[in-house]
Amino acid sequence: MFKLLVVAISYLVANSNGLNENEDSIIYDPTAPKPCSNNATSAYVDILLVIDTSSNMGNANLRKIGTTLSLILPKFTIGQQSDITQGYRNTRVGVITYDSNVKIIANYTDINSVLDVSKILNGLTASNDHATNIGGALFTALGIVNPCSETDDPNCIQLPYSRPTAIILFAAKAAVDDLGDNLGGIQDTLVFLANNDATLITVNFNNADPILTGVLDIITYNKFAGVSMYNFVSTRSSLTKDFEWAILQANCYCEQANNLFTSVKVQFDSTTNRYSRYRECLWVGPRTVDQNPPVSTVEICDYLPIQSVPANILSADENKFFEAMILDSHIDGGGYIPSYFGLHKNKQSQWVYYGYNLTEFPMSNYTNWAPGYPKPNDKCAILDSIDSKHENLVWKSIGCDPSAQNFNYIWSICQFEGCDSTTLDCCYACAVENQGGFEGKVKKMKRRSERKIKNSKGRFNRLINKN
Ligand SMILES: *[C@@H]1O[C@H](CO)[C@@H](O)[C@H](O)[C@H]1NC(C)=O
Ligand SMILES: *[C@@H]1O[C@H](CO)[C@@H](O)[C@H](O)[C@H]1NC(C)=O
Ligand SMILES: *[C@@H]1O[C@H](CO)[C@@H](O)[C@H](O)[C@H]1NC(C)=O
Ligand SMILES: *[C@@H]1O[C@H](CO)[C@@H](O)[C@H](O)[C@H]1NC(C)=O
Repeated sequence: MFKLLVVAISYLVANSNGLNENEDSIIYDPTAPKPCSNNATSAYVDILLVIDTSSNMGNANLRKIGTTLSLILPKFTIGQQSDITQGYRNTRVGVITYDSNVKIIANYTDINSVLDVSKILNGLTASNDHATNIGGALFTALGIVNPCSETDDPNCIQLPYSRPTAIILFAAKAAVDDLGDNLGGIQDTLVFLANNDATLITVNFNNADPILTGVLDIITYNKFAGVSMYNFVSTRSSLTKDFEWAILQANCYCEQANNLFTSVKVQFDSTTNRYSRYRECLWVGPRTVDQNPPVSTVEICDYLPIQSVPANILSADENKFFEAMILDSHIDGGGYIPSYFGLHKNKQSQWVYYGYNLTEFPMSNYTNWAPGYPKPNDKCAILDSIDSKHENLVWKSIGCDPSAQNFNYIWSICQFEGCDSTTLDCCYACAVENQGGFEGKVKKMKRRSERKIKNSKGRFNRLINKN
């Protein structure tokens, strides 16, 4: 945990550009990451406001929170019709407050309009309590995000689709123990929140407090990108724009409901000077060599329930992101296994990648071949390590038939299209149930593979085995 603290870098934004509302007209370019939609009108992200009402916050700050939110929430469609498979585009809002006690002030059913939110926020007053319970507040939020997470009741009904949630934490103080004894519990809650498609956005009301700042850095840390994201200081002049962007980023996600080892793509965006999500889902995982081992890289990714292709690595940034995902996915501590990716030679012997529809396009200028590679007769590529610590993954050429390579497990990295406020491409239930006329990018009849992945060394086992 200490290591995490050291690497958790505060995320600064040099300038905040307005949102580009026209981004949906951008033509799909397989050689660039797909931007997330900035269309708040069509958003279907739930918003949970988690507000520190201890004496550290004070009433003036509580009024400021109300004012800021009253500028942002009208852009979203507040409502209760939550079934995204039916095409509804509603944002549900809930409010939790905490000092040393955590209270649900309003759950989703209590709020039907921006006015409802304003009334609730205007009614908040700071308490005399100087202590705060951030861990308890996040755990309570988890109970709202996934009501089945806190109960063993087998009758608790889990929705067949998942809704993304933006949890906005307004914090003025953290307990010293939040960086000590409480940290493990907070991190466990964060993992479950992430698995339930919730994104943490934090607002720091006392930037001079190193404990609070350290805790918020951890809460917003993206371990694959190696940075804290959506981590704002309350005095920022661009806070309303930042909020709108961050909430829409929360609506740009990859469904984790199947416990696949999946992450939405995060890259540095040099036009806005900040790390950003992109509407692409990356999957790293093993396929066991069973009776029907895959005989091509396309077939490995075809195994996923959502239409997927072997992944592209178009920049050093992307290579680094995959490296972090692959290294993190290996639970057994050793036994590093190389992973196939999408680079391959086409019929004209050029190195190319796959677009989402399996059309091919030339590799970018970025290459990361290990010394002595590529070898002339190899037509596919793996990410592998050449150092004993397995820290820096480089490319090696290899044969394209995974079943011919003597691997115990065939690992690969695959990619599929993500969801954002204007698309449901990552939503399994949207296509499987085939309700609401959504095309979806999901293949049918894959329930069996889905279960198999869940039982293999996927995300769920990983969670249990770690720490
Ligand atoms: C945003 O979404 C709304 C509702 O789906 C739609 O009517 C509008 O055209 C979209 N705006 C843009 C810029 O795409
Ligand atoms: C939350 O929802 C339940 C019904 O699901 C309701 O009984 C309760 O009053 C709601 N409000 C709060 C603040 O818990
Ligand atoms: C596949 O995608 C490319 C762009 O990457 C597009 O030009 C082409 O029309 C698509 N083909 C099909 C069959 O959808
Ligand atoms: C690759 O490099 C060449 C030569 O430096 C340059 O002309 C070309 O635009 C680059 N292509 C890409 C996709 O960056």
